Amino acid sequence: MRAIRIDRFGGPDVLNVREVEEPTGPGPGQVLVRTVATSINPVDDKTREGAIGEGTPPLPMTLGWDLAGVVVDGGSTGRQAGERVVAMSHQLGTGLGTWADLVVVPAGALASAPTAVSLVEAATLPLPGLAALQTLDWLAVSAGERLLVAGAAGAVGGLALQLAVTRNVRVDALVSRERQVGLAEEYGAEFATTDRSALKNRHYDAVFDTFGAFVTDAVADHGRYASIATQAGEVPDLSARGVRTTVNQVREDGAGLEELVRLVDRGLLRLRVDSTFSLHQIRAAHEHFGRGGLDGKVTVAF
Ligand SMILES: NC(=O)c1ccc[n+]([C@@H]2O[C@H](COP(=O)([O-])OP(=O)(O)OC[C@H]3O[C@@H](n4cnc5c(N)ncnc54)[C@H](OP(=O)(O)O)[C@@H]3O)[C@@H](O)[C@H]2O)c1
Repeated sequence: MRAIRIDRFGGPDVLNVREVEEPTGPGPGQVLVRTVATSINPVDDKTREGAIGEGTPPLPMTLGWDLAGVVVDGGSTGRQAGERVVAMSHQLGTGLGTWADLVVVPAGALASAPTAVSLVEAATLPLPGLAALQTLDWLAVSAGERLLVAGAAGAVGGLALQLAVTRNVRVDALVSRERQVGLAEEYGAEFATTDRSALKNRHYDAVFDTFGAFVTDAVADHGRYASIATQAGEVPDLSARGVRTTVNQVREDGAGLEELVRLVDRGLLRLRVDSTFSLHQIRAAHEHFGRGGLDGKVTVAF
């Protein structure tokens, strides 16, 4: 089978489509899936570059966290061959990359794929969706509370904004480009801006920071502040103001993914595809991803 591998760190030219051995069927509690599509996340880019450092799986490695595909063998898990599924594989933690024709996934990391969208669109959901869901759950924002999402037009931020709106949270948005203001408003933001100084002293109950904005003057005393921008480092210590802070790390979570899928099928979570590349265009896909200015996720179809 084919897999996208790196055997050294570097730019997009280190990516190769290799013939590798197929997995030997699912083990206990696992499902064998034929990949139909995946998407590129910032972590894939950083892993390829060698920017993760400690904790990176050994070389050579297959990259990829997001997976949308079809069950080949459900083993003893109750999943049937032919079922459309999505999953997130914690590639950094396990070394199990999804950018391969066949992938073995723990059943607990899988969910049925949404029926309202294609598998290419569905491949944009797992990692960003789970990061959004799990971080919102940590922030524990309830109906009527006010949340600021920094990076609200990005993959995680866009889903976090829409998810919070489904919970009747009042959401404001910080975006990077003027033309993203309208998108954030379409997602349900009450107020969207590119100007971080406009957020000062707005006393948000909670802030969801997706890019290391550290807009700490926007959070209310005794509020909550979560960042997912691991590489930007810790959130400044706000304990003197009674603000709880965290840098949240995404976890495999099939049940969470099922919840997200239901919202996609009800039309409450919109997925955005910027572009779709074939497996053999993987270097071009990474170059496109690296140039930025994207309008949605970069996907790869197998
Ligand atoms: N800790 C975890 O478990 C976890 C999980 C998922 C992601 N992450 C990390 O979280 C970050 C976001 O991931 P993502 O997939 O959502 O990436 P993304 O789609 O690139 O979204 C990031 C968003 O932030 C915006 N942004 C960047 N700098 C900005 C600035 N100075 N002012 C306003 N907006 C700004 C970007 O604007 P443009 O649209 O103009 O680029 C983009 O819309 C990445 O660093 C990723 O590695 C961590």
